[in-house]
This record gives sequence, structure tokens and C-alpha cells, in this order.
Amino acid sequence: MTIAETVGGRPPWRLLLDYVRPHRRALLAGAALSLVTGATGLLLPLVARGLIDDLGHDRAITGALLALTALVVANSVLGALGSYMLQRTAESVVLGARRTLSSYLLRLRIPAVDRSEPGDLMARITSDTTLLRAVTTESLVGLGTGGVTLVATVVMMGLVDPVLLGVTLAVIVCAGTVLGVIVPRINRASRRAQDAVGVMGASLERVLGALRTVKASGAEHREEAALHTAAEESWRQSVRAAKWTAAAGNTAGLAMQTAFITVLAVGGARVATGAIEVGTLVAFLLYVFYLMSPIQEVVGAVTQYQTGSAALSRIQEALHLPAEPAASRPAPLPSPAAEPASLAFTDVRFRYADDLPYVHHGVTFDVPARGMTAFVGPSGAGKTTVFSLIERFYDPESGTITVDGRDLDDWELSHLRSAIGYVEQDAPVLSGSLHDNLLLGNAEADDDTVRRVLKTTRLDALVERLPQGLDTLVGHRGTKLSGGERQRVAIARALLRRPRLLLLDEATSQLDAVNEAALRDTVADVARTTTVLVVAHRLSTVTMADRIVVMDAGRVRAVGTHRQLVAGDPLYAELAATQFLSTVE
Ligand SMILES: Nc1ncnc2c1ncn2[C@@H]1O[C@H](COP(=O)(O)OP(=O)(O)OP(=O)(O)O)[C@@H](O)[C@H]1O
Ligand SMILES: [Mg+2]
Repeated sequence: MTIAETVGGRPPWRLLLDYVRPHRRALLAGAALSLVTGATGLLLPLVARGLIDDLGHDRAITGALLALTALVVANSVLGALGSYMLQRTAESVVLGARRTLSSYLLRLRIPAVDRSEPGDLMARITSDTTLLRAVTTESLVGLGTGGVTLVATVVMMGLVDPVLLGVTLAVIVCAGTVLGVIVPRINRASRRAQDAVGVMGASLERVLGALRTVKASGAEHREEAALHTAAEESWRQSVRAAKWTAAAGNTAGLAMQTAFITVLAVGGARVATGAIEVGTLVAFLLYVFYLMSPIQEVVGAVTQYQTGSAALSRIQEALHLPAEPAASRPAPLPSPAAEPASLAFTDVRFRYADDLPYVHHGVTFDVPARGMTAFVGPSGAGKTTVFSLIERFYDPESGTITVDGRDLDDWELSHLRSAIGYVEQDAPVLSGSLHDNLLLGNAEADDDTVRRVLKTTRLDALVERLPQGLDTLVGHRGTKLSGGERQRVAIARALLRRPRLLLLDEATSQLDAVNEAALRDTVADVARTTTVLVVAHRLSTVTMADRIVVMDAGRVRAVGTHRQLVAGDPLYAELAATQFLSTVE
């Protein structure tokens, strides 16, 4: 059996028990109720016999009728209760796995996210966890109740005739060996089927996340083919698993028939030699017959477990991706009176992965508290990477980064991030309302502050124009907003955090000249009380900056004011002349 297949050192059945442990009482109660239901079922024929006896002897049948009614009612009520409790427990196990997994995925480190497909991770939370439902009820309960009945029956058989028991067990061991070959195949096929569901999730996410691009590129057919291939692969593997599951069930059935015939033959011979009575043989054959159902139950449990353990190992893989330490509660945002932050990079070397070239080859610069620092340089120079390192999305390979003179390693992550407002280069907006988006970084912002920030980011006119105002839904990734509006929403969101360090990555690149000039004034205003870092794309922003850091190919070439750099740095002079868009002053 593939129980030996382990993830992170723990075999899947132990992981399953970990998920089930918090609900063990409910599970045991459900299983006990099922057993009791079975027992009341067994009593029914006895009471019925009594009733017929009473009828035959002209006795009153009220008592027997009442007992019969009580048994029937108890049987159905307990049966329903038992199955409800088992299903409920199974759902709770699924809930537990989903909660654990979703909390964990939110804490994933960015490099882990870079390496994974969000659609596949989504499939692990939605589809794989669902498979735990069946494994909890069918495998655990089936193994429990079936196992107990099996052992009890085998003991009874041993008491009746040990020789015939030996014969039966020999047949069962043969069947067990065949099952040992079949069962790992079920596991492998299930695993592949779930992996294919993951691939499908990833393709779906890719396509639906960029449906406009797919349509504009006329790539529907190719993307459709990829989706269908993944769906067909899942089908193929599930069918394979079904084939082996059927074979397993059949093997168990065949084994019981064989046991029956063998016991009949050997038992017949023993009766002929006078070793046992005919009655003993009949009783033993009855037990072989009784063995059928628990064996089917146990084999069902084992095959069902294969699907569950495949899902469990996929869940466990996700839980082994590198994650950030869990913060007990969100860090408070800086108070309005908080001092702005200072920042320093010292000889920072960084690459995104061990097999990728270095992006920073020893970056060094200093940013004092307050004021505006502009980062300029050709595309791919490593400007956005500077911001990612400040947010600690990644850790540098060597060198140090300090905020307020304290190494980033010594900061509690949530405290570090709560000091920062970051407007990313592509100004992402989340699906939901405008209001949700603005308050994403500071859920406590009051209406007055929101109104003020809307005004400074010049979103107030937009909000007024929209029939639903701030409650307007912005669509997936904010597609219902224009590019410039998205940028202003992202800036407003960052400002509402009252950051001590504001990072703006080409945050105004899509604004028209009038809006951009207004936003520039806002940023200049903020820079009087906060440390502002901007990746600049316009000459007007650069000329206004207190200092400019010129980056090229992962190095800082020069630091200075516009005037100093135009005179002293040829690359900067060229950038100033060609790359920066001149703006209406
Ligand atoms: N997540 C990532 N994984 C691997 N490589 C990356 C990743 N992000 C960026 N890079 C690479 O790192 C280099 C620097 O990227 P970065 O985004 O810092 O450049 P930039 O200076 O911001 O450029 P631009 O002006 O075009 O925004 C690029 O060569 C890019 O391909
Ligand atoms: Mg960039």
C-alpha cells in the first residue's frame, strides 16, 4: 500500500488523523449510532417471531406491536442521526482543512507564489479538500466498523474449527496480495487525476484572468485545447482509478466465493473422515457468508483511502511551501504624529532564484527621513526590485537593508509593512467596491479622511459621477475603471495608510497632464512629512526630487540632484534628454 508514500515525513493516514482528531467524539458517536442502528435491525426478526407466536397462541399482541413500532422508529431515527453525525463530521474535516490551507496560502512567501500556479493552489483548497469528505466517513468508519466485525467473525470461526479458519485465511491472504498490487495503482491514478484538475484550474485562471487579451489575440481555440486536454487527462486518470477500484472490489468478491468453495471441499472431506460434524461445517459456512460484508467494507475503505491520501498529499505539499511567520494580530498603523522613516541599502546583492542571474550587484544608497527620492534608470535596471526588497517580499542574498537604522531581519514583518504605503507599478485594484479598495490598507479610516484623500487624488469627481458612488463595483482587477483611475485609487489606498515610507512605482504614468500635475503637488506635500520614494518617469517629478538615484543594470551609478547629474552623469543626461516625457509645467 502507498501508506509508505509520505509527505514531509508524515504518512498520509497520520495527516488524516490530525484533521479528524478535533472531531473524534462526533465521529465515534456517529459510528456508535450506526452500530446501534444495525443492532436494532437485528432485533426486529426476533420481535416479529414473538408477534407471530402470540398470534398463533391467541395472546394479546399489543405489547409485541408496541415493541415492534418502537424498534422501527428507533431504527430510523438513530440511523438518520448517525448518518447526519458522520456527514457533519466529514464536512467539519473539510472545513478544517480549508481553513488551515487558506490561512496558510495568505502567508505564502512571494518566491513560493512566483513558483506556483494560483489556479492549482485554488484547486487544492476547493477540490482536493472535498475528497477528504468521503475518506473520513467511508474509510475511517468503514475500517472501524468493518474491521471490528471482521475480527469478531474470524474469532468465532476459530472457535468453530481452526483448520477451516486456516483454509479461509489462506484464501484471504492470496486475495490480499493481489489487492496489494492493485491499491497503489488507484493511488497513483487518483493523484494524477487531481494533478490534472490542478492544471485545469491553472489554465482556467490564466484564461479568465486575461480573457480580453486571449480574445484580442484570437487565441481562444488554443486555450480551449489546453483546457480540454487537462479535463480529459483528469477523466482518463479517474477512469483508470475506477477500473482498479472495480478490480479491487471484484477480487474481494472472488476471494469470498473461493473461500466458500474451498471450505466446502475441505470441510466436506473433514466431515467424511469424521473430524467434524455436519453442523460445524454448516455453521462455518454461515460465518464465511457473514464475512462477505465486512470484507467488502474494509476493501471499500482501503480503496477510498487511496483517493483521499492522494488529495491529502497535495494539500500537504501546499502546506510545505515556504511561508512568512504568522502574526498573532495585524500591526497597528503608524500614528499621525509618527516620524518618517529613513532607509539604507548597503552592498545589496540579490537574484530572484538560484538559477537566475543577479538583479542587484551590490546596490548602495541612503535615504534620510523626509523628502522625495527619485529612482531612474533603464527598464530592467532593478528599480521595482528595490521596492520589493523594502517590503521584504524577497530577502537579499548579501548586504543589508535598514529602515530607521534597523536591519529588516530585526523588524517584525507586520510592523515593517504597516509603516509602508506601496503603489505597485501596475496599480492593482481588487474586485469589490471602490470603498473596499480604498480601505484595504486601513479598514479604520473615517469618512472625513476618505473624502479628503479622494479630493487630493482627484477621485472626488469620479465618485460623484458614479450612480452608486463609493459602492460602485470595480470588476475583476478593476477592469471597470480606466488605467488612470486605477492608479489614483491605488495612490489613495496607500495614502489612507498614513505611511511613514511611501513607495510609488511609476504611480502616475497613466495620468493626463492636469491630473499628473495635481498628484505631483500632493506627493510633494506628503514628502514634507513622510519619506517618499518614487520610480519616476517624467522630468517634472525628477526635477522636483530632493535626490535622484540613477540605477543601471543592478547598480547605483550616481546619486545627486537633477542639475548635478545632468552635468556629471552621461547616462542620466541621456535619459533626461530622451526617456523622460516632458510635461506641461
Ligand atoms: N519575480 C521575478 N522573478 C524573476 N525575475 C524577475 C522578477 N521580477 C523581475 N525580474 C527580473 O529582474 C530584473 C529587474 O526587474 P525590475 O522589475 O526591478 O526592473 P525595473 O527597473 O523596475 O524595470 P522597469 O522600468 O521596466 O519597470 C528584470 O530583468 C526582470 O526580468
Ligand atoms: Mg519597474
